Amino acid sequence: MSDKVVSMPNEERFQARIDAEEKIEPKDWMPEKYRQNLIRQISQHAHSEVIGEQPEGNWITRAPSLERKAILLAKVQDEAGHGLYLYAAAETLGITREELIERLHTGASKYASIFNYPSLTWADVGAIGWLVDSAAIVNQVSLQNTSYGPYARAMVRICKEESFHQRQGYNIMMTLMQGNEQQRAMAQDALNRWWWPSLMMFGPHDGESAHSAQSMKWKIKRRSNDDLRQQYVDQAVQQALAIGLEVPDPDLVWNESRGHYDFGEIDWAEFERVINGNGPCNRQRLAHHVKAHEEGAWVREAMAAYDAKRGKPTVDVA
Ligand code: 3HC
Repeated sequence: MSDKVVSMPNEERFQARIDAEEKIEPKDWMPEKYRQNLIRQISQHAHSEVIGEQPEGNWITRAPSLERKAILLAKVQDEAGHGLYLYAAAETLGITREELIERLHTGASKYASIFNYPSLTWADVGAIGWLVDSAAIVNQVSLQNTSYGPYARAMVRICKEESFHQRQGYNIMMTLMQGNEQQRAMAQDALNRWWWPSLMMFGPHDGESAHSAQSMKWKIKRRSNDDLRQQYVDQAVQQALAIGLEVPDPDLVWNESRGHYDFGEIDWAEFERVINGNGPCNRQRLAHHVKAHEEGAWVREAMAAYDAKRGKPTVDVA
């Protein structure tokens, strides 16, 4: 680090490191607001991975074939692992697993609004894998270059598995669209219900975003909400058309001069309702997580007792 940088106040030196594309590591000095912003975003990302298992897990016992069941089991298992990577990354910022779970259970911490919608048919499993994991890929590929080292490295690992998630979902939709009229109608119904919530995954418009300006300055975020959403729409529309699905947006039109699709306005009132706990499944999702957490307490206690016996520090394994 140059002498000039060394003589700067901490904040300036920190920003100089960010501007120089250096990775910030757990033991480095960082502004408290940087730390808190990362705990907020990484923990919500982790919660999303874990809560997101519920709508898909709902179909493991009802998958239409042994192969589809095995694929779905593998995907849901991957999501649990993604949650663990991300909780571990959040813990490097000085917060315990217990505190993170407490924030989820009290509603102090959010998770992706999309997981508060019900998975009503097998086609929903396809739509979730295809649309939600496509959106996650667009977002997470960008986050591989986030300024916080542990988060960036977790993203590299997670992105490797997401493409399988997306492909298996799209394959379900393609198979249904090659089926009979009832199967094609089931796939279209799933797209109709999951399309707009998938656009909400990228957050409010850039001008309405509470965190984007600072997150972009600190290179926590590398691309804006609207920029990522546009990339997602451009690719998802082509994928829908390729298998004969109709995107449920009467304002969707290719804009030659922009080189992108123009699309309709998201229902932000619905978005606000869902992220404030009033979506179709919010209460069910949290109640399920609280119940599983409580039923799993004995495992955490046994691991802590085993660690204590071996003289290892008791690890929060909430
Ligand atoms: N669902 C719930 N809350 C959302 C949201 C959504 N789709 N979009 C935005 N919000 C919340 C933000 O958390 C913030 O609230 P807070 O201050 O209480 O945290 C508020 O709305 C304002 O939004 P901002 O755009 O200002 O917030 P961010 O700068 O954090 O941007 C984000 C939102 C783009 C989701 C960003 O947090 C992010 O990139 N997070 C990491 C990716 C992530 O969490 N993805 C969730 C899906 S994980 C998944 O799909 C797994 C897959 O494998 C199945």
